[in-house]
Formats: sequence, C-alpha cells, structure tokens
Amino acid sequence: MIEIENLRKVYDNKYEALKSINLTINNSELVCLLGPSGCGKTTILNIIAGLLDPTSGDIKFDGKSIIGMHPKDRDIGLVFQNYALYPHMSVIDNIMFPLVVGSNKLPKAEAKKRAQEYMKITKIESLEDKKPGTMSGGQQQRVAITRALVQNPKILLLDEPLSNLDARLRLQIREEIRSLVKRINITTIFVTHDQEEALSISDRIVLMDQGIVQQFDRPQNLYLEPANLFVAKFMGNPIINTFEMLKQDNTLVSQDFSLDLKKFDKDRFKCDLDGDKFIVGIRPEYFVLSHTPLFKTKVTVKELIGKDCILNFEVNNQAAKIIVDTNSNIEEGQELAISVEYENIYLFNLEGKRIY
Ligand SMILES: Nc1ncnc2c1ncn2[C@@H]1O[C@H](COP(=O)(O)OP(=O)(O)OP(=O)(O)O)[C@@H](O)[C@H]1O
Ligand SMILES: [Mg+2]
Repeated sequence: MIEIENLRKVYDNKYEALKSINLTINNSELVCLLGPSGCGKTTILNIIAGLLDPTSGDIKFDGKSIIGMHPKDRDIGLVFQNYALYPHMSVIDNIMFPLVVGSNKLPKAEAKKRAQEYMKITKIESLEDKKPGTMSGGQQQRVAITRALVQNPKILLLDEPLSNLDARLRLQIREEIRSLVKRINITTIFVTHDQEEALSISDRIVLMDQGIVQQFDRPQNLYLEPANLFVAKFMGNPIINTFEMLKQDNTLVSQDFSLDLKKFDKDRFKCDLDGDKFIVGIRPEYFVLSHTPLFKTKVTVKELIGKDCILNFEVNNQAAKIIVDTNSNIEEGQELAISVEYENIYLFNLEGKRIY
C-alpha cells in the first residue's frame, strides 16, 4: 500500500507545485495520475521515486515512511516518456543493465536468463540483439518497460510512457500495459494528461489541477459523478456544455431556455440552492432531439465520428454541441429541436462546487 499524506512541494523559486496531497493506493492497483500540463503529476511521481524531496508531508510504503530513503532502496521501477535506453547497448544489455551494476549485482549468466524471462513476458524476445536506434518507438517503449520490470520491483511508475507513439500504437500499448501489470500484479502509477487513456486502463484515477487532487475515484464515477465543475469539464469528449442560469422561484432561466426545478430529482441535490446564479452542465450525449423542445436552433457544423455525429449549434449566444446517431441524417443549416433528460443535468455554484 502507498500512503501519501499532506504532501507539499514548493520549488526553489517559491512555486507551490503540490498543495497537501492525500492519497492511498492499494497493492496491485493501477492508478492513473491525470490532469492538465503543469498540475503536478511528474512532481508527485519524482517524489515517490526519490528523485525529488518533498517540502513537507510523508509517503509510506506498507506503513513505513520512505522519506530520505535512497531511490535505489525503494523497490521501484521507473519508465519515462523518453525511454532513456543506452543507445550503444543491445536490447538484452539494456535490460540486463540494472541487474549487473550496484551492490547486489547478479552474475552475468543469471542476469541474462532473468532478462530473457522478462522479454518473454513483454513479448520482445525477437529484439534481443537490436540497438535502440534501429527500433520503432513502440518497440523501444516495450524495452524500457521490460528494463523497469526486470528488477522485480514492488511498484511501477510510468510518466507519460506513450506520448511519443502514434494514436493507434498508443491504444495497443496501453492495453498491453494494463494486461501486463495485472498479470504480474504490480502496483502501478501511470501519469497521463489524456483522459481517454486514463479512463480505459485505470482501476482508479487521481484527477489533479494546480497541485490539488480534484477527485480520486473509479473511472465511471469521474464521468458520471464529477465532484466539481473542473472534473465535469475535464472528463468527457466533446466537453460538457455549460450555461449560466438565473434562479427565479422554481425555475432556472437563461436567454433561450428555462429548466423547471420541480422536475429535478430531490434526492440528487447535494446541498441547498443558495444564491441566484448557477452553472448548468449538460453533456452533448444527454441533449435529445424532441417534439416538445426546450429550445430550437440550427446546425452550424456537423462532425462525423463514426456511428454518432456531433452537431454544433448556438444557444444563449454561445456555441454548444449535441451528439446524435449518424443515421438521423441531419445536415448543416437544418433546424434542431432540443430537449434534455432532467436526470442527466448537473448543477454547480459559481465557485464550481457540485450542487446537483
Ligand atoms: N524545478 C522546478 N522549479 C520550479 N518550478 C517547477 C520545477 N519543476 C516543475 N515546476 C513547476 O511545477 C508545476 C508542476 O510541474 P510538473 O512537472 O509536476 O507538471 P506535470 O503535471 O507533470 O505537467 P506535464 O503534463 O506538462 O508533464 C509546473 O507549474 C512547473 O512549471
Ligand atoms: Mg509531467
């Protein structure tokens, strides 16, 4: 188990990159650290790995603090974005390298045997004699992961390991990584800024912004039960539609449409509706075409995404999107009559706190 307690990091230039992070990661769990560039993902990973000291707070592995412990003694395998393979060494030598240096080094023959066992697990036996410069990005990535695993670490840390790969290879290797780490049962922290990547491979996701954990939860909960407006906007593609609306008696009002608060499910309110201005969030997939519409508008741009298409339109003088079945054959310029399913509406206050 990895316990991160009140972890803070203030860099030398006084920038506070982490503001009291608390996380508990279970053994064998695959957790993604997700968030926009600069939110502190690499900072956390480097502190766990021992490459960076925290300003305050604690990290425990299985109940024991590891602060001050040498990186080599932490039992961690690390994979970075730029694979950092030794260019003059063959694949097998790269993978053996961590086994034949340092104080508890193995005899060469034994190290080679172990490296070959792991190359079978990651399915790169055929690359044994190649030099990194003669391999594709995907192959180099597999070698880097194998080199991290060969020391049989307790924890695997991966920092944006797929960002140098093309889109299709990313899909393939992320699935390979998930099935590999599940097969060998290793606790894994995977850094990415790609929400789809995080959603598809994680047991749980830590979504961060500006050095703060916004939500630590199972993937479907981040999408269906966002803790706040930041999470609702970060998860989901295309992005959730948001509208500022005014509360007047039992109605939320905006220029082009109103919502009847009596139709909201009372049990879903997380707190009282204090104040008079709110932000309504409606995902593009939860707008519906309707004969009893909330509002009428026109398609500005149609984007095909396969079985579905995204129709862009304007409402309340702002751009918005709805996802519909491509078979509905609606074209640009055509009129749209749009309604919403009330159970799929989100409500936030102006600070972004989730209310409904
Ligand atoms: N050595 C440093 N000195 C000062 N500020 C730093 C230093 N390293 C990182 N930062 C700042 O700390 C913040 C967090 O950086 P970090 O590298 O952890 O972000 P990240 O979430 O990994 O981003 P990315 O997705 O771009 O890799 C950023 O605003 C960054 O500019
Ligand atoms: Mg980073």
